[in-house]
Amino acid sequence: MTIFDNICSSNQNRAPLIEALNVLRRRNDAAFYAPGHKRGQGISELMLSLLGKKVFKSDLPELPELGNLFVPDEAIKEAQDLAAEAFGAKRTWFLVNGSSCGIAAGILAVCNPGDKIIVPRNIHHSVITGLILSGAIPVFLYPQCYSTWDLPLNITPKSLKATLKRHGNIKAVLIIHPTYHGICGNIKEIVKVTHSYNIPLLVDEAHGAHFQFHSALPSSALSEGADLSIQSTHKVLGAITQASMLHLQGNLINENKINQALQLMQSSSPSNLLLASLDGARQQIMIDGQKLLNKTIKLSELARSEINNINGFSTLELINKKPEFYDLDITRLTIDISSLGVSGWKIDKVLRTKFNVTAELPMLSSLTFIISIGNNKKDIISLVKALIGLKEMTLSSCSELSIPYLSYESKVFSCFNMSPRDAFFASKKIVPIEKSAGLISGEVLCPYPPGIPIIMPGEIITGEAIKYLVKIKQQGGIIAGCDNQDLKTIKVIN
Ligand SMILES: Cc1ncc(COP(=O)(O)O)c(C=O)c1O
Repeated sequence: MTIFDNICSSNQNRAPLIEALNVLRRRNDAAFYAPGHKRGQGISELMLSLLGKKVFKSDLPELPELGNLFVPDEAIKEAQDLAAEAFGAKRTWFLVNGSSCGIAAGILAVCNPGDKIIVPRNIHHSVITGLILSGAIPVFLYPQCYSTWDLPLNITPKSLKATLKRHGNIKAVLIIHPTYHGICGNIKEIVKVTHSYNIPLLVDEAHGAHFQFHSALPSSALSEGADLSIQSTHKVLGAITQASMLHLQGNLINENKINQALQLMQSSSPSNLLLASLDGARQQIMIDGQKLLNKTIKLSELARSEINNINGFSTLELINKKPEFYDLDITRLTIDISSLGVSGWKIDKVLRTKFNVTAELPMLSSLTFIISIGNNKKDIISLVKALIGLKEMTLSSCSELSIPYLSYESKVFSCFNMSPRDAFFASKKIVPIEKSAGLISGEVLCPYPPGIPIIMPGEIITGEAIKYLVKIKQQGGIIAGCDNQDLKTIKVIN
């Protein structure tokens, strides 16, 4: 069942923030408020040439008619209430700093210093922010690796159950649904297991804001009973970059704590352009979602059938449902490029410079593409043509290329020794990376994308982890989080 099967009581056709901005941008105000460009009058010529005049008339602060994000009233309250109804939440908060701030706020709302929270090891960087700020202690679940694809899968209800049993006093569970590659676990069972301990399930649903709106997509976290879901509306729906939402349901998480935590994590001058884009994205997907997602799914099916016909390429598919790979978001297209003998980062560069095709996420042996409501058939044709072209040119233009790559397995990850918060504040020294195995890391080493830290503060550095990171760097990947991005040195705990 999708949201469209329930006729909503309120008027989802409305977009209160956009309506209010439409009135305000026409008003002839003597503006003595921020931002300093004063409705575009003082904006730089360069910005004008980039964006035109119109957009700046709507770049307004929290004027009375728009309302206040931290004490929602007026248009912002109405917009958030409509979003809560659309996404099936008791309450929805708009976020102007991405899912990243919502994830950290979620952890802050459920954990005090020293509390334990179960998290998969393939967490996004923002979970570490939440752990450092809250002082919570992570209890890691190591997801299996999808062997031939070098991709992390999801955690299973069985492993969660065993971990809950083994550790007393767990305060909350956080899962990723779906992963960056669109892989979902059995969230219904995970909710059941979590709730049997009367603790909340927080879901990093950064890549799943569209799930609610089409029955051919995996089920959304809230529809399966999760307590908190954080979604990057900007990643898959029509919102501006950074604009995201946090949804709450049930009584296991205190609403006021979410409020307080979000005030720690967000700007006190939220952009009304970002907020309005959330309003518009909700209205659009509620009114036209079925049609738009039908089109998106068809495009993805077309891409899959064409690409699987090209010798040497294959797309990631759900073949047999397993607890660790229970569902797949068909709009997330991951292509195995290992037959080319070139890393995903190098292929990504060639695709972009020679074919004007840009992927979302290059990894060592695959490329992932987000197909969303904004794509069209021309894009798919360009991608398919580029892949065919790539096959013809690869060996001549990228000759050096063989990758004995390291698998993305739990052995790569280090072993946890010190809380991320203690490690973050501890005194540190810098050592050559080749001499760091066995020491405790004082910083994050995180290939970007996908933003999954391979080493985090407080973990014992392993030789495997170093090898893996060096390999990624050599193959053209970017390592973020650490001071020395050349990976010559690393900060360790004194
Ligand atoms: C799994 C996952 N969670 C959270 C985030 C953070 O989302 P945002 O970019 O909206 O802050 C990302 C970003 O890529 C992600 O991949």
